[in-house]
Order: sequence, then C-alpha cells, then structure tokens
Amino acid sequence: MRFTITRRQFTGGASAFAAATVLAGSLKAQQPSTNEQVRRLTAKLGEAELLETDAPRTPIWGYEGHVPGPELRVAQGKPVAIDLVNSLPQPTTIHWHGIRIDNSMDGVAGLTQTPVTPGETFAYRFSPPDAGTYWYHPHNRTWEQLARGLYGPFIVEEQQPPPCDQDLVLMIDDWRLGDNGHIDEASLGSMHDISHAGRLGNVLTLNGRGEQDIPVRAGQRLRLRLINAANARIIGITFEGHVPMVIALDGQPLDRPFAPGNNLVRLAPAQRADLILDCDQDVGAQTSILADTGREKLRIGRFVYHKEKRERPNILTDIPLLPQNPMPGALDLDRAINVDLEMTGGAMSAFEAAEYKGKRYGARELVREHHKIWAFNGIVGMPQSPLMQIPLGKTVKVRIVNRTAWPHAMHFHGHHVKEVAHARRTPLPYWRDTILMERGEEVTVAFLAHNPGRWMLHCHMLEHQAGGMSSWYEVA
Ligand code: C2O
Ligand code: CU
Repeated sequence: MRFTITRRQFTGGASAFAAATVLAGSLKAQQPSTNEQVRRLTAKLGEAELLETDAPRTPIWGYEGHVPGPELRVAQGKPVAIDLVNSLPQPTTIHWHGIRIDNSMDGVAGLTQTPVTPGETFAYRFSPPDAGTYWYHPHNRTWEQLARGLYGPFIVEEQQPPPCDQDLVLMIDDWRLGDNGHIDEASLGSMHDISHAGRLGNVLTLNGRGEQDIPVRAGQRLRLRLINAANARIIGITFEGHVPMVIALDGQPLDRPFAPGNNLVRLAPAQRADLILDCDQDVGAQTSILADTGREKLRIGRFVYHKEKRERPNILTDIPLLPQNPMPGALDLDRAINVDLEMTGGAMSAFEAAEYKGKRYGARELVREHHKIWAFNGIVGMPQSPLMQIPLGKTVKVRIVNRTAWPHAMHFHGHHVKEVAHARRTPLPYWRDTILMERGEEVTVAFLAHNPGRWMLHCHMLEHQAGGMSSWYEVA
C-alpha cells in the first residue's frame, strides 16, 4: 500500500485517534532544559512513529535519536553550552537558526567551522540575545540530514513571558516515505527536486507524529510556537473554529499583533510564528488543526477540550505584547549600502550559462556534471568573494528580485532583515530571518550590520540551496 497524505490523514479513523490520545501527554512530557550545565546532544540513528501505531516505524536520523530533537529551552542572554556528539555515518554541524549568534558558533560547514566527523564532538557556546522561537538543524548536507529528521525547537524564554495557560511548540514537517514507511532515499537530492519545488513529501507530521491530540480547557489562553521544518514545502496552518493572533515572527515580537487573513498562518520552510490562541469553544469540543498545502487541507492534530472549563476564563484581556528584544539601533536608509540580488535558474526559466567555482559553464554541463541549476547574480553556489562586504555598523539595503518560476525562502544568517520597499505593495514591518519570495516578486530588505563575521544567505528550500542558491556576505 502506498501511504498518501490524503488516505492516511483523512481516513485515520478511530484507531489512529486512540493511539494519538495515549500520546497526547508527550507534548508536555519533554523536560525543558536550562542553561546551567553543559548539555550533550547526540546526532544518531533512531526510529520514529510517523504513521499509525500499527504501521511500520520509520528509521530516521535524530538528535538523541528522536524527531523532533529535544525541546531546548533557555533563558535570554544567559550562556548556553551544548556539546554536539556526532554518531551519524557522515559529518555534521548544528546551526542555531535565527539566533544572532557569534559567527564562530553559527555552525555552517565550510564557512564558520569544519564539519564534525563521525565520533567527534563540537562544543557550542553562546548567549542568545533575543527571546523567541528558533530552531536547530545541521548545516552540512542539510537537504539530506534535515529530510532524515535532524532538527529540534530552540526556545529562548522572555524574562517575563505573557501569562498563558500552555506554551506549546508545534513543529511541522513534510516527509517523503515509500511503501514500507521508510524514507524514500533514492530520491534524496534528485535533480528533479533540485530544479523544481524542492523535495515535497507525502506525509505531514506535527511534532513527529501524523496526528496529535492537544488537551485544552475552555477558557484557556495558549501560546503556540509554529515552526516549519520541511525541506521545501510552504505550509498554511488553520485552527478550526479559532482565531490565532500572531505576536511574533521568526522569533521577533511584533509591535502590533494581528489575525492573519482567513485565519491562516502561512510559513515558508524555516519560518516561525508565535501565536496567542484563545480556547473559546465549548467543553468537550474537538476541533481540527489543518495544514494547507495549497492543494488540500490535511488534519495534523486536534484540540480536545476537557469536559470542564478553566475555573476563570483567561481570555477576556487584550492580546499581550511581547517584550522588545535588544535589536541594533535604527536603520540609516539614506546612507545605506545598496546591493542587488537577482535569483535566476531552475526549471522553466533556466539560464544559459553561469559562473561556478570561478569558471563559466553552460547550463547543461552544470546540471549534468555538478547538479547545479540556480544562481544569485549569475553565480552558482558559494562565490569565492562575498556577495557583499559591509563595514560594521552600516545599514545595507538588498533588493531581491525573483526571476525564476518558483517561490524561494531567502534566509539571512546572523541578522534579521526588514522589508523597506516592495514593487507591488507596502512593505511589511517585521524583522525576519527568512523571507518568502513568490515568483516574479521584488522586495528590498534592510538591516544594520552589527554582527561581524562571514554569514551565509541562501534559499531554505534545501534542494535549491544544494542546487546553487547559496551565497555569503561579510561584515567586518
Ligand atoms: Cu536554517 Cu542556513 O539555515
Ligand atoms: Cu528556492
């Protein structure tokens, strides 16, 4: 039998739910870690129950053998000490996605560190400056290691978090599994995925399971931390009957929380959203959490209301504002350095030739010999000199134009960026580390270069990154 999202998740039936209920407690069971001691995090082989309980288990690679890896919860501004132990059959690293981190701790193999070989350990030491929702994942052969299950939530807690009854991470992933329930390995890094939309799967999971029951009480206020951990799929989440209020994006608090259009929270790969969600349904209600893939809506979980209300409802007050993070000073847009970033390539609009490792190649040869098909400013893959060189303290404006037939999720390491101009609408006033660029879209983002080092910028649709959409910039 071939598992398809549709069959499994729509006809899940009673047995699937019974199984999910038993495990519902697992959302809470994870013990949050604190910053105090050194924590070991072993990347190793494991098994996961991505499908129904009676279905075959899926061999994965995971932190501590689990997917998602342990939920790391740390205090803002306090030192974090994590030793990565590599028990995988290939070299790896950890990138702390979205953390404005010291460059040497950014975890980018080949740019900020040498990859950690099997059997070796690497000591990550840093103090996260900003509170918010982040995540960790490898930055070596990411297209393969993430698809195999190596990722986990990294939560930096505010000193004074807004009062909520439950603070829950919802980490969503998209898996391509074969008939036997195993990861489809033959298609890992396939040229078709590289040149089209990236690796799209056939099974969606919430926190590593096909369906999650989340116990709630009428009158509760929830803080939900959504993380899109898919290789390439853009996912929209809705909560049947509920109105989510977005209070932070990519870890950074919003000045003005908002309810998204159609109550749908849309996340490109690697993006996060923090939500306040008030449980305003009746006691005993069961409502679906749906993932919209653009073509279908699939249930990935449910809110299961207790038969009793919260004693006093917690949802009558205003939506709380999160405390500000210590972001660098104001942007100096008038005296900014201007940089253009043109995305080209991919199926349906391939370029004729491009530069790769300092030499010029025809498109055919790039595809056939090097599995490359995407370029930034006519350069495929990591350029020898940085895409931009920025003096410390300067403001940069990057005008990004997507001249391809595909959407892309542009991720900047080391800095959050904000839209300051858009070809077709008013720019959105949010600090983000990952920007979704639709086909044909043109947007200018700006940031103040406050964090010295060599930083990567790349498409977080990981097959695109592997196929050439990766570059770097230097702040000195
Ligand atoms: Cu989430 Cu360069 O990575
Ligand atoms: Cu892309």
